[in-house]
Amino acid sequence: MKDMVTMVLFILFVFTVSGCIRLNENEKLIKKRCTRCHSTKRIYAERRAKDEWNGIVERMMRHGAKLSRQEKGHIIDYLASKK
Ligand code: HEC
Repeated sequence: MKDMVTMVLFILFVFTVSGCIRLNENEKLIKKRCTRCHSTKRIYAERRAKDEWNGIVERMMRHGAKLSRQEKGHIIDYLASKK
């Protein structure tokens, strides 16, 4: 019984840590790809739904932001999940 509790706590711990790392990766990606023309302040000031972020990021790509399809998806998901 005690082992079970330890195991559940351990699993929760692993999920929390991996969640934090993923969050960090997205912020790093935004810093790398989106701050050539303006600061992240401009980005984090916006609260948009996912389809709106899609439109904004596509506009940024027309301005000259260089993103792979995958990076674009990560950035849009991350920005849309911020409240
Ligand atoms: C090549 C330059 C460039 C890059 C790289 C760039 N932006 Fe922009 N961004 C602009 C310009 C220019 C504006 C202001 C004019 C406009 O809104 O089209 C802007 C404005 C914005 C705004 C203001 C809100 C709005 O609707 O206008 C947001 C949010 C934004 N950018 C997000 C991003 C994100 C997210 C990225 C990374 C994927 C990014 N930008 C990368 C040039 C860039």
